[in-house]
This record gives sequence, C-alpha cells and structure tokens, in this order.
Amino acid sequence: MILESSVYKEIFGPLIVHESQKVIKFDTETEKVESSLISNIPREEIYNVFKDLAIVIPLKNEKLHLLDGVLKAIPHKCPIIVVSASQKDIPNHFKMEIELIKHYYSLTHSKVLIIHQKDLGASEAFKAQQYFDIIDEKDGLIRYGKGEGMLLGVMLAKSIGAKYVGFIDADNYIPGSVNEYVKDYAAGILMSESEYTMVRLKWRHKPKVMQKGLYFRRRGRVSEITNKYLNLMIADRTGFETDIFVTGNAGEHAMSMQLANIMSFSSGYSVETHQLVFLLDKMTNPPQPEKYKDVYEQGIEIFQIETLNPHIHEEKGTEHINEMILVSLAEIYHCSLCSENVKKRILEELYARKILNRGEVPPKPSSMSPIGDLDVKKWFRTVKKKSDTLVILE
Ligand code: GDP
Ligand code: CO
Repeated sequence: MILESSVYKEIFGPLIVHESQKVIKFDTETEKVESSLISNIPREEIYNVFKDLAIVIPLKNEKLHLLDGVLKAIPHKCPIIVVSASQKDIPNHFKMEIELIKHYYSLTHSKVLIIHQKDLGASEAFKAQQYFDIIDEKDGLIRYGKGEGMLLGVMLAKSIGAKYVGFIDADNYIPGSVNEYVKDYAAGILMSESEYTMVRLKWRHKPKVMQKGLYFRRRGRVSEITNKYLNLMIADRTGFETDIFVTGNAGEHAMSMQLANIMSFSSGYSVETHQLVFLLDKMTNPPQPEKYKDVYEQGIEIFQIETLNPHIHEEKGTEHINEMILVSLAEIYHCSLCSENVKKRILEELYARKILNRGEVPPKPSSMSPIGDLDVKKWFRTVKKKSDTLVILE
C-alpha cells in the first residue's frame, strides 16, 4: 500500500499524533518506490500482520445481510470476535446471528468467536477479578453500550493471544471498504516505531442519498463538531491553533494490545472521543513519566489514515446523531485540559442545537479503568466455564 508519508505531526508529552495520511495506492508489491513523499508498505508485510490482528465487531440488531458482508470481507487470517447486544426474546435476533456465523464458518473455516454482551460467564469473570466498572448494578451482568461491548471484545482478543485489536462496525454496506479498513490498520501498525500504536480511520467521503443521486460529503456531521472542539481545546491550552485531530469519532480504529492494556474505555458512544481525551489527560496533565516509563520511552503513535473507499452505513436518525454529539462533547467538556472558555463554547453549541436546555451541563460519561492488570488466563477460564452464550469456531 502506498500512503502519503507522515510529514507533519504534533507532540503532546509521549503522544505523537500524525496528520491524516491519504491512501494513494491500495495494493503494491514489494519493490521500492523511490520518493520521500510516500510510505510504501508491501502487501506481504500487511498480510503477515493479520494472524495477530483480531477484529472485534460490536453488533446490536443490525441487518443480517450487513453482518454477512462484513464477515466475508475481513481477511481470512484475522480472528473475528463478534460481541452482540442484540435482542434475545422473540424474534431472537441473537440466535439468527449465531446461525449466520456458523454457516459462515462452515464455508470459510476462518476463526470466529461470538458472545452476547449479557453473557453470564463474562460478567462472572470480571466480578471474580474485582473489576466492576463494566457491571450493570441492575442485573449484575455487563452493561449495554458500545464501549462496554468493545471492552469485552478486547478481553476476548487478549485471551486468544492477539497482539493487535481492530474494531469494525457491523452496519457497513460496502464489504470492499471493510476489507480496506483492516489493511489500513495493518499499514498503520507497520508504520509505527512504537509498541504503543493506534490507527484511526477517516473516511474520504460519506455519501448521502439526495434527490439527484449520491452526494459525496467530505465529513460526517458528528465528527466535524467533535474534531472542532477537540482542536479548540488543544489550541486554547497551547496558544497555537491546530487542526491535527480529524478522527475524534473514528468507530473504525485499531490499537496494539500494549496500548489497549493502559487504555480506558468509556460507556456507550462516547468511547472513541474518550480514548483521545483520556490519553491527552493521563499523559500530559500532569505528565507521569514514572508511572508510564516504557510509554514515555517509546511514545504512543496515533495514525489517522484517510481511506480510499467511501463509508456507507445504516442511517440512524437525528436522535442518534444528537446523542453522539452530546456524549462526544461531554468527553471534551469534562477533560481536565478543557478551559472555561472552551467549556462555554461547548455549552453554546449544545444549547443552539437544542440538545441541552439552557442552564444544563453535559453529564460526564462513565469510564472504565484499564484492563492491563487483570489475569486474562483466569478471566477466560471463568468465561468458558460459566458462559451461556459463547461460541468458539476454529
Ligand atoms: P455510528 O455508526 O457511530 O453512528 O453508530 P452505530 O449505531 O452504527 O453503532 C456502531 C456499531 O456498534 C454498530 O455495529 C452497532 O450495531 C454497534 N452497537 C451499538 N450499540 C451497541 C451495544 O450496546 N453493544 C454492542 N455490542 N454493539 C453496539
Ligand atoms: Co453506524
């Protein structure tokens, strides 16, 4: 794959944030392409990463056709982990997902795990290690929410020995784009000089159906707002305006397990913004070089890759969009780096959009502490012993 080289980067403590890099040629051979303006990552190297890169698919009542396309598009060697929050009573959507996945496995023999988010064994396994951040007080099981599903996915990925974990939404209409996302993750992983790596994808276009046909938008409605305030928060702090962050809501992203071990996830849809806010907060305000010695030595590299494919997913309506804007801005609002001035501007944005009533402030999304210290072998043994939904196909 040929990508624009990372020419420009901004550094915040140990965080190295690369400017967005476009995919220039999707598939290349190993021969050298001479230019300092591009990075050439040979196809063979990309394929070598797949066996170590588990793909987690968070899933909640999506169309089975879409899930089917996503599964089939993921490169064969990547282990797949489906974490479903789909309905189990009539109609039993979860059961249909299992049927589909079993059929997919019988045809491909590509390793796949599926678990329901309300799995008994998974909640028992967390509780056995005194990890309650993910537990729902009401039923003693894991809470619903995308961030919670992702964290469960990370634990399963770690359990099967994955070195990297990538996330792909289940509601994607273009299997070819899913195939690209996984390769973009691998390319980012290979570009990193640190073991602490994150690769976040930015869509080139997000098409909308209009009266005159498709209109290829450059930005998503939510991400435009999130990125604006993320950058404003930095600018107000440093005194230098910036537009470095372009992936504040990147649902499609991957990270190394070393980074996942120290990463905090947050509840529901705020999770992607939270990751950046958490790293900025933890690593710079104040810096903690003793606690994170290895991290400070190696740095954390954050790549933002602009995909070749457009992103077309299920449109979930204004209420969903407003919820996303609220929780994303809530993350920034409650970040220790956020100045009073930026807080005020966030509130004005939320009032103007009638997402909050005047006088209200966004509630702080709950966050879950890093899972690095949990005994993953023990955790997985308990899951397998007590699970009522886990299916492992290999
Ligand atoms: P958007 O694409 O960011 O606007 O949000 P989506 O509603 O498409 O959600 C992203 C992905 O997360 C989709 O595959 C959803 O099915 C899935 N998802 C949403 N909520 C949950 C949840 O509570 N648990 C799990 N496991 N997945 C979820
Ligand atoms: Co979606």
